[in-house]
Amino acid sequence: REQTFVMVKPDGVQRGLVGEIVARFERKGLKLVAAKLVQVSKELAEAHYAEHRERPFFGELVQFITSSPVFAMILEGENAIAVVRAMMGKTNPAEAAPGTIRGDLGLTIGMNVVHGSDSPESAKREIELWFPEGALTYERTVDAWLA
Ligand code: GTP
Ligand code: MG
Repeated sequence: REQTFVMVKPDGVQRGLVGEIVARFERKGLKLVAAKLVQVSKELAEAHYAEHRERPFFGELVQFITSSPVFAMILEGENAIAVVRAMMGKTNPAEAAPGTIRGDLGLTIGMNVVHGSDSPESAKREIELWFPEGALTYERTVDAWLA
């Protein structure tokens, strides 16, 4: 089964949205195989967002993501990467469709509540970066009804 890296960003944790966001992914059928609350270091933030290093908002982005804890997780399921991206909605909450996490819960692009890996390559890189300890393997009775 495909795995993806997902995090509730500092605004989501501060606003008490961790449960709501995890509940959406759980109801969808995705399986939690790792999760932790993390106070992100500058080094981890810069490594995570390395692709945006040259962007004008990079400093702001690193400042934001290290400003307060994030809730990091690995979710598993058929097409998990694309499914999570669809459930998150567009990067700018102002353009994200109602029904998506950013569409329902976000307001501005600088604090858009949630992150999800955007490709299989990103997922592999981000899972190794955030969870060097690895994920758990376990069976759920319901798994047979989800794939
Ligand atoms: P992530 O899942 O967080 O990676 O979002 P994304 O993949 O939908 O967007 P992208 O990777 O292009 O940008 C990463 C993050 O940078 C976004 O989620 C925003 O929080 C932030 N970002 C993108 N564009 C801007 C911008 O113009 N201004 C600010 N302040 N932040 C931005
Ligand atoms: Mg991205």
